[in-house]
Amino acid sequence: MTKILVAYFSQTGNTQKMAKAVSEGAEQAGAEVDVLNVQQIEDLNSLTNYDGIIMGSPTYYGIMANQVKEFLDKSIKVHGKLEGKVGGAFASCGIDGGGSESTVLSIIQALLVHGMIVPGFSKIGHYGPVTTGEPDDRAISECKQLGERVANLADKVS
Ligand SMILES: Cc1cc2nc3c(=O)[nH]c(=O)nc-3n(C[C@H](O)[C@H](O)[C@H](O)COP(=O)(O)O)c2cc1C
Repeated sequence: MTKILVAYFSQTGNTQKMAKAVSEGAEQAGAEVDVLNVQQIEDLNSLTNYDGIIMGSPTYYGIMANQVKEFLDKSIKVHGKLEGKVGGAFASCGIDGGGSESTVLSIIQALLVHGMIVPGFSKIGHYGPVTTGEPDDRAISECKQLGERVANLADKVS
């Protein structure tokens, strides 16, 4: 069975709600999903167990939160071992234009450095779902679509 990790950080719950919706989408596509706060993931070797890794962060000063960056920096432990896995990203911010797209793109950059495959979207948020504050129905729907897309793609390439 395709295994997907949804790894996120959230201080006040907005990104956590997005993570839950992403996991629901992946589960609906038939994947087995773990949803974990990045601070819960102590063994970075566990990343190699997944076919797809989707990461979410609040926007802090226009980029990902330091907790997510720290997690990505620690992932050098498995550098080269995530090659060909499927990735995706989502982000929350406080105001419209507050930097959630740059946050998504900064996470995607790191996933690409790992050699991962990251799909784009032509009809919804192009780089991945973003929300301002609490995710509304549009954001929840896009999160589910991200989970579904990554799970289906991971199933094909794994
Ligand atoms: C240290 C810090 C920096 C922030 N920087 C930004 C920012 O640059 N742009 C923005 O729109 N919101 C910013 N915010 C607001 C958060 O991105 C926003 O409240 C987000 O929804 C929080 O996600 P969470 O509920 O998952 O913790 C910042 C919040 C904190 C605590």
